Amino acid sequence: MESASSRTAKPLVTARTAAVWQVLRRELDRHAGRELTVLDVGGGTGGFAVPIAQAGHAVTVVDASPDSLAALTRRAADAGVAERVRAVQGDGDALASLVEPGSVDLILCHAVLEVVDDPADVVTAIAAALRPGGAVSLLVAGRAAAILNRAVNGHLRQASALVTDPEGRAGKRDTLRRRYDADSAADLLRSVGLKVEETHGVRVLADLLPAAVVEEDPQALLELELALSDRPPFRDIAAQLHVFARRT
Ligand SMILES: C[S@@+](CC[C@H](N)C(=O)[O-])C[C@H]1O[C@@H](n2cnc3c(N)ncnc32)[C@H](O)[C@@H]1O
Repeated sequence: MESASSRTAKPLVTARTAAVWQVLRRELDRHAGRELTVLDVGGGTGGFAVPIAQAGHAVTVVDASPDSLAALTRRAADAGVAERVRAVQGDGDALASLVEPGSVDLILCHAVLEVVDDPADVVTAIAAALRPGGAVSLLVAGRAAAILNRAVNGHLRQASALVTDPEGRAGKRDTLRRRYDADSAADLLRSVGLKVEETHGVRVLADLLPAAVVEEDPQALLELELALSDRPPFRDIAAQLHVFARRT
């Protein structure tokens, strides 16, 4: 789990999140000197929210879990940014009723669309909440990685289900309700009028390597993840797909 080491907001980036932080840091730098209004939908315990608050921005985390929000509040206090982090218990599916339209500079929606009732409603609410010029960072589970994972672990029927299921589920016991590929994730944001600027693969290799390899040279893995993150076919087999889009 990442933690931020200083008030200047350098999160301790690992190979598992490097590609996302690279895009987010560029967006924060673009607005250097200005306090942004940031919304983290399903932001959980604040792995992204707290470092962004440490960079001087006001972050609201909407999450369904009271336990996660309690951990977020503790984490923000420990990091000295309690006054810049607001925890709101709420359902991502009801986002439209929780956020003022046109009021947010940057919205994070990471690992949440896989579990909500209706992703179309959530992205519609995200597009409405953004100010003109505001941006969304969307992170979703990749279908291709799940197929490969199930297959190499011997679960061939689950792999087949993932190939043919319209939502990209591995069967009734799958904990996720849907998965995406690079095109379907980008199309979801385009469907609500957002302009897709970048798509990256996140965790192209990180989940595939033995722990000993990861521990031996984490910097080499981080650099390799970054190098592969925007290169098909590697991008497309990543465990997660990151799409960054803007309201024009
Ligand atoms: C996999 S975690 C991701 C946390 C964080 N976004 C991250 O990337 O580290 C999913 C989060 O979504 C929250 N969540 C699940 N369903 C939700 C919903 N319908 N509305 C809001 N949050 C939800 C969970 O409580 C959890 O904190």
